[in-house]
Amino acid sequence: MQKLSNLNRAAIRKTIIATLLFAAVSPAQAADVPPLKFDTAFETVDPYAQTAAMHRGMNVLGWDPVWQDPSQGRFQPRHFARLHDAGFDTVRVVLNAFPHMDDADRMDPAWLSTLDTMLTAAVQNGLTVILDLHDVRLCGVDAETCKRKANAFWTQIGTRYRDAPSSVIFEMMNEPHGALTAPVWNAMLPEILATIRATNPTRNVIIGPAGWSSADQLATFELPADDQHIIVTVHYYWPITFTHQGAHWVTETSGLSGVTWGTPTDRAKVATDFDAVKAWSDAHHRPIFLGEFGAYDRGDIVSRMRYDGTVARAAEARGFPWAYWQFDSDFIAYDMTTDDWVQPILYALVPPRG
Ligand code: BGC
Repeated sequence: MQKLSNLNRAAIRKTIIATLLFAAVSPAQAADVPPLKFDTAFETVDPYAQTAAMHRGMNVLGWDPVWQDPSQGRFQPRHFARLHDAGFDTVRVVLNAFPHMDDADRMDPAWLSTLDTMLTAAVQNGLTVILDLHDVRLCGVDAETCKRKANAFWTQIGTRYRDAPSSVIFEMMNEPHGALTAPVWNAMLPEILATIRATNPTRNVIIGPAGWSSADQLATFELPADDQHIIVTVHYYWPITFTHQGAHWVTETSGLSGVTWGTPTDRAKVATDFDAVKAWSDAHHRPIFLGEFGAYDRGDIVSRMRYDGTVARAAEARGFPWAYWQFDSDFIAYDMTTDDWVQPILYALVPPRG
């Protein structure tokens, strides 16, 4: 896969300035904005070769105020260098995009400009960049509106980044669930894929199964056999009583505390679950990306270290790149108040060589 370290910084600056100028146009004109230009051309990459280069990743930027007001950003472009220097090769950029669309489903130019800035900075730091459409709330309750908006999103994003190097990957939709039952999702995903393929015929696209893309949901998953530029994603939060103890957004576990993790049985379950994912991957000839895993901050730090390390090593042992959930906000790997890593989490994810 192409490395991006030779990108011309001046050209990137020019591109960003041009994009900031476009930010002044109305949403109605936004669709006419030409594709962003990159110095490194797109080259078709085999999805197995792509995943082999992704290694260790981090979910970033999900609910950052930067999307509302660039001057209020917590995550700064310089954090991509911190990630790279700490041993990460990939970022999954979590895009809650639908609230930034107008009535005609056109993306807000200012939001796109922020994305340009972040994407170019990540590319410049040699990272694989996943653009993850993450509007789970609406998609979980309204499949038709979700499909319309997802198609509009990928039309605009596909056009804008059609010239991006192959290290930029599109993730069709985070954690389909609820209204997106397995049959609904399996029928919908080829339509959204066709939208992406109109502008990006061979860029690798990440897609996960319904049922929150949980690692145990692959049996329900159907992909178009004629598209071989797909990477399959799964998420792993088992057991949720440990990983989501005290998490206010999960009713069943919000009242829990003091749940530990790390018995031989706990570890054996991870191995068994990941063996099953590997078996599915081999049988269907689709590479795997573990797009989310982690344990919420309320768990004790020793159990969280054990868990994060065990899951990351289980993925690596089977050739799956991974992305930890997440850099900032909750489950944090990086403390914005001290502007430094949460050392135990970093240590578990990227063990020092020695
Ligand atoms: C959801 C987040 C949640 C995380 C862990 C993500 O996919 O979008 O809201 O915090 O999973 O539960």
